[in-house]
Formats: sequence, structure tokens, C-alpha cells
Amino acid sequence: MSNDDETGTGTGTVWQEPTEHNRAGFGEFKKQPTPYDTFMESEGIPIFRGLGVRTVTDLPRVEWERKGGRGSYIQTIGTETKWGHFVVEIPAGDALNPEKHMFEEIYLAVEGRGTCEVWQEGDVNKHVFEWQKGSMFSIPMNAWFRLVNATSKPAVLMAGNTAPNVLNQLNNVEAVFDNPFIFRDRFSGADDFFKYREEIEPDPVRGLAMRRTNFIPDVVDCDLPLDNRRSPGYRRVEPYMTDNQFYYWIAQHENGRYSKAHAHTSAAILICLKGKGYTHTWPEHLGPTPWADGNGDQVQRLDYEPFGFITAAPGGQRWYHQHFSVSKEPFRLSAWFGPHNPGRDPGAPGTKHTDYTARELHEGGTSIAYWQEDPHVRAEYEALLETNGVELRMDPSWYERPAGIDWDANKQLMADGIQ
Ligand SMILES: [Fe+2]
Repeated sequence: MSNDDETGTGTGTVWQEPTEHNRAGFGEFKKQPTPYDTFMESEGIPIFRGLGVRTVTDLPRVEWERKGGRGSYIQTIGTETKWGHFVVEIPAGDALNPEKHMFEEIYLAVEGRGTCEVWQEGDVNKHVFEWQKGSMFSIPMNAWFRLVNATSKPAVLMAGNTAPNVLNQLNNVEAVFDNPFIFRDRFSGADDFFKYREEIEPDPVRGLAMRRTNFIPDVVDCDLPLDNRRSPGYRRVEPYMTDNQFYYWIAQHENGRYSKAHAHTSAAILICLKGKGYTHTWPEHLGPTPWADGNGDQVQRLDYEPFGFITAAPGGQRWYHQHFSVSKEPFRLSAWFGPHNPGRDPGAPGTKHTDYTARELHEGGTSIAYWQEDPHVRAEYEALLETNGVELRMDPSWYERPAGIDWDANKQLMADGIQ
């Protein structure tokens, strides 16, 4: 068979060596569906792909035979192959089908209330706990569970899981949903397994506040400890549930304040739990002042309210993101990352890492101090608060450069570093 492609890229079905100095392959190609993409398609419900939605109940919920409810898959841009996400409705007075699966799964109740039954294969006793709007819980790996709606109205829950990670590796649906292995190490069977634990301990990676609990009755109003890493008064806790690798936290920005921007690679989505706000996100290579540099059109602004969500870093490289509270009440968020946490960053065990998203640019981190940021950020925010009748609580002194920092030289070093 002759090669009819003079560029030597070989578009036929028989592989051809490239001619002369041309390079092998098509050069351009379409991203292929993963086993998880194919699985989602086979379930016959819509798949949302985008940067975010104002609130998750805006998404269509369609008859979902396997689950016994209605729903949509969600694959926010940047989370592909990183973790899975969906919204599911339990019809009034009904229950979803019992299921078990070889992936971790967490649930956040969006509307309604009900119960969750959890048990191990062969166990006589079922653990039963009640959930309501704002409850968050984790299903232990490969345990049976059944979600029941206790009311005469539809109940809606949002779930995050590691289904893509496992399905893309095993490439066999039966091995994932019909696997006899019992994880006694992840589900002890203790009577208080789904009892809320409020105690705080330092997380073993960065020493941030962590709550070891498999159930949180109300993430909308639960107590959050002070963190201060994103903005003055910022509160945050990491729940650690059922020995999951799936990483998430719950945090809150004070009303009348916004976070410093910071950059990292994709995986995280942010789910609004309380208040209203918006997020700016832009590629790190545009630098800390994209509007002043004529690149303001490349900044995405995403608005959301309770149970809406947005992707923090939609591109493959590091993206800045910055969160703005515009309501009279604080802006509470939950961030879900899949099995991607700072303890999973590259490097041999023991390699020194810094909490770089909490260190400012002149300290070697990716956090843009208020005095380093683009003036557009402050102007836009102040105008929005005025429109909303919300008191501004940003201290003007935060915008003043501390003495002794040669920021212009520093900016050049940073620009050189990310070229
Ligand atoms: Fe982030």
C-alpha cells in the first residue's frame, strides 16, 4: 500500500515510516473516550461537561435504571480521569437500588432528607443513619448501601467518587460492581461508625485542621476552625472519612472579603454551601495581573450559589483561582479533589515540600498577596458589594506593599520562572 500522505504523517490503516526528516504519527489527534467515559455513556443519562453551574439543581435529572432514581453525570473541565461526580434524585417515598462498588464515594445531600443503610456482604445487621439537606457522608469501599427518601418530595444528592480511577485501570465493569472483596479495615462495623466526631486534629501532611468522621450532619452550618491561609478570618477543616484517598475540605470566607488568588493544577472543584460568590480562574502563565497586561479576556469569571460548583483550574497546567464572597452572609465552600492531595505530590518519601498555595509570590509560593494583585480585582469587587448592599471588610492596609520587598525584581524572576 502506498502512502498517499505527502507529509509522511501516515493517515492510512497501515503504518508507514516517516519519509526523510518528517515525524511519525498523526501530529494531531482527538482525545479518546476512557473506559469511564464509555461506562457513563452506557448508563443513558446526560453528562454535564463545562466549567460549572450556578446550582446543581439546574442540571437535568433523567431516569437512571441502574440506580433506580434520576440523575446526571458531571465531568467538570479539568477533572477528567481525576475523579467522578454525579447528581442523583431519589423519587418521593422511594429508595435507590442497593449497590456496592470498588471505589470510594462521598455524598452531599442537596434537598430533602432520608436514611442511608450500609452493610457488609453477609452481615445481618445494617448500619442506618439519617441525613438531611447539608449532610455529608462516605460509603466505605465495596460496602453495600441503600439510600432511602423519607419524605413525600424528591430528594437530591451530589456524589463524588473514584470510579474513573478504578474503571480506567481495571477496564471491567463487573470487577468494579460485583467484586467479593470485603474491606474490614475500612468498615469496622462499630456501632458508632457513622456518629459525628467534632474533634479536630492536625492532618498528617500539612498540619491543617482535620476532623476524622464518617458523617457530618450539617456542612452548611457546622463549626469551622480558623485557618487564615486564603484570607484573614478564613476558616477550614478537612474531613477524613472511611480511610479515603479522596480528598476534600470545607471552608468559609468572611462576608465582605475575598481570598488571595493561588495556583495549582486541575482536580479541584468548589461547591458553594452557603452565601453567594464568584471565582476568577486564569492560566498561571498570564501572570498575577492579567487585566493590566491586556489579557483580562482570558480570565473566566464563574458565579455560583448554594450547591452550585465550579472548576478551580480547568487547564492542564497550573491555573490561578480566586474566590469572592458577595452575600451578606459568609461564603462557604467545599472543595473536592478526588484522590489528589498534597501528600501525593511528586518526589520520594521525605522530600521537602512547602505549602506553596499558602505562600505568597515573593515567598516562593503561588498565592498573590492583595498588594501584588491586579487593581481590577479590587475595583470589580468593591463595585459588586456596593450593588449588593454588602459592607466591604477588606482592610486598606492589606493592599500596601510591606517595606523591604523589591517586588519589581521579584516579578521578573517569577516571569522568568514560569516561561
Ligand atoms: Fe486551589
